[in-house]
Amino acid sequence: MIKKIALFAIVILFAIQFIGIDKTNPPIDAALTLDAPEEVMTLLKTSCYDCHSNETVWPYYSDIAPVSFFVAAHVEDARSALNFSQWKAIDKKVKTKRLKRAIITVKNEMMALPSYLLGHEDARLSYEEKVLLTDWFQSELDKLGSDKKNIFFDLR
Ligand code: HEC
Repeated sequence: MIKKIALFAIVILFAIQFIGIDKTNPPIDAALTLDAPEEVMTLLKTSCYDCHSNETVWPYYSDIAPVSFFVAAHVEDARSALNFSQWKAIDKKVKTKRLKRAIITVKNEMMALPSYLLGHEDARLSYEEKVLLTDWFQSELDKLGSDKKNIFFDLR
């Protein structure tokens, strides 16, 4: 019985390797991409861009099913929630919401996704990096005329 189950599992694992996932990086329109100060861009690119942009660097494990399914789904969901490659096209109201959520998620270590950090130790944000990033999110909120001050977040 155990042998049969094991064999079945191996067959299934083998078979699902042939299920293709959509690992494309949609084209980038330079007019729409985010341009933030260099130190902010560096943090976003290291910690967020693999999911929240069209510049995904697909990791080796994204070739192996069923892990590949999760990776592809994460990137798809992340891009539809917030895509820095289309930053300038995001509606003001939506952007305001995402920026507020960005502050909360970074503060609470919900972003970058914890599972992602396992394979990307450099994406883990230090205290100083969290301050820098959330300060920038707040400054963008200010620019959008959001009257909500960052009441959720005071690291200092
Ligand atoms: C491994 C992929 C991955 C990485 C890396 C990642 N995210 Fe996300 N993010 C997601 C997914 C998936 C969602 C959409 C599903 C959800 O809301 O949980 C999301 C949603 C979000 C949202 C919208 C949340 C909401 O409820 O409106 C924000 C804001 C966000 N991420 C910010 C960030 C920031 C900032 C970073 C970098 C510090 C980051 N993310 C890194 C996968 C990722």
